[in-house]
Amino acid sequence: MPTHKIAVIAGDGIGNEVMPEGLRVVQACARRFNIELEFTTMAWANCDYYLEHGKMMPDDWFEQLKDFDAIYFGAVGWPDKVPDHISLWGSLLQFRRRFDEYVNLRPVRLMPGVPCPLANKKPGDIDFYVVRENTEGEYSSLGGRMFEGTERETVLQESVFTRKGVDRILKYAFELAQSRPKKHLTSATKSNGIAISMPYWDERVENMAPDFPDVQWDKYHIDILAARFVLSPERFDVVVASNLFGDILSDLGPACTGTIAIAPSANINPERTFPSVFEPVHGSAPDIYGQNIANPVGMIWSGAMMLEFLGNGDATYTAAHDAILAAIEQVLEHGPRTPDMGGSASTTEMGMAIAELLK
Ligand code: NAD
Ligand code: IPM
Ligand code: MN
Repeated sequence: MPTHKIAVIAGDGIGNEVMPEGLRVVQACARRFNIELEFTTMAWANCDYYLEHGKMMPDDWFEQLKDFDAIYFGAVGWPDKVPDHISLWGSLLQFRRRFDEYVNLRPVRLMPGVPCPLANKKPGDIDFYVVRENTEGEYSSLGGRMFEGTERETVLQESVFTRKGVDRILKYAFELAQSRPKKHLTSATKSNGIAISMPYWDERVENMAPDFPDVQWDKYHIDILAARFVLSPERFDVVVASNLFGDILSDLGPACTGTIAIAPSANINPERTFPSVFEPVHGSAPDIYGQNIANPVGMIWSGAMMLEFLGNGDATYTAAHDAILAAIEQVLEHGPRTPDMGGSASTTEMGMAIAELLK
């Protein structure tokens, strides 16, 4: 395999604390499996850059990034410095759209050693994927304000659901379900209240289902689906959802398995025309930044997903992914653990312990 080129963007807040641990572990693993990686750090896409330059990224960001094989990304956002919609629409959301990363793949797994807030659940009981549509849907900047400052003040915000956009995420989700032992797909909907886009989404699911006769599927309105995540998470296998519903479910799922701090995600361009982005589900956590106590596992696990993606089916890379997962499990179970998991270890200590197991 050739050398894989990876752009590194730490972003804001704890992105800067967990990124070094992600890199430590990915590099240790790459050495062990003879995988060649070349990292290039970008000092932009953060709120301090914005304060200095009036924008989150240089004008040629697309040119600078487009030929990388992957982007390893921490977290962006510091609402006291820059409004969130400006920092996120100026960075992460641009990557997802311009690089056509239409799949946001987010595993939800109860890991050994992580206390589960739900009663009587053990590792293995909760193990599913949220497949989130990542380029359209409710996330849009279409709309505007009218009659501002008057009693008629009106705000319009459009959603966008294209046939291509809906069908490609459903196809990815059906195929993923087909590849798993349970072969089960759940579609998140809200066709009782959202009268145009959601019945359309349902229609497209029904249209595609006959192509996957071995996949059993069902659909739930998002409200009761949220309740079912808490009441019976073991029944899920692959859950496909629109951009906003997928966002909410991919915090709720990890919270049901103990903590969002360990949850990873992959923003995938399956065609590999552009780089994919690998990042933890969590954000920049201003409330704990600066103390070196952030849990680095979400960042590290995302690094494992990045290696597997780079391998594109190659057994060595899948083994590298599995080795990182095994090291994470070992440290989650036996420590050292960060304070969010009841331990007293630092971010660095936890990262080093995981890296040590990969030597
Ligand atoms: P958050 O995920 O940053 O934090 C939520 C809570 O979880 C906080 O109490 C935080 O301390 C805790 N937490 C998060 N990650 C942790 C970790 N690794 N270890 C221990 N505890 C952890 O969500 P928020 O507070 O809603 O957002 C803060 C900022 O991050 C905002 O600007 C938001 O827009 C941004 N954000 C960015 C991303 C991203 O870049 N992908 C994702 C979510 C939020
Ligand atoms: C996530 C985050 C982002 C999203 C925000 C920061 C725009 O919450 O990656 O889940 O909503 O997609
Ligand atoms: Mn989110």
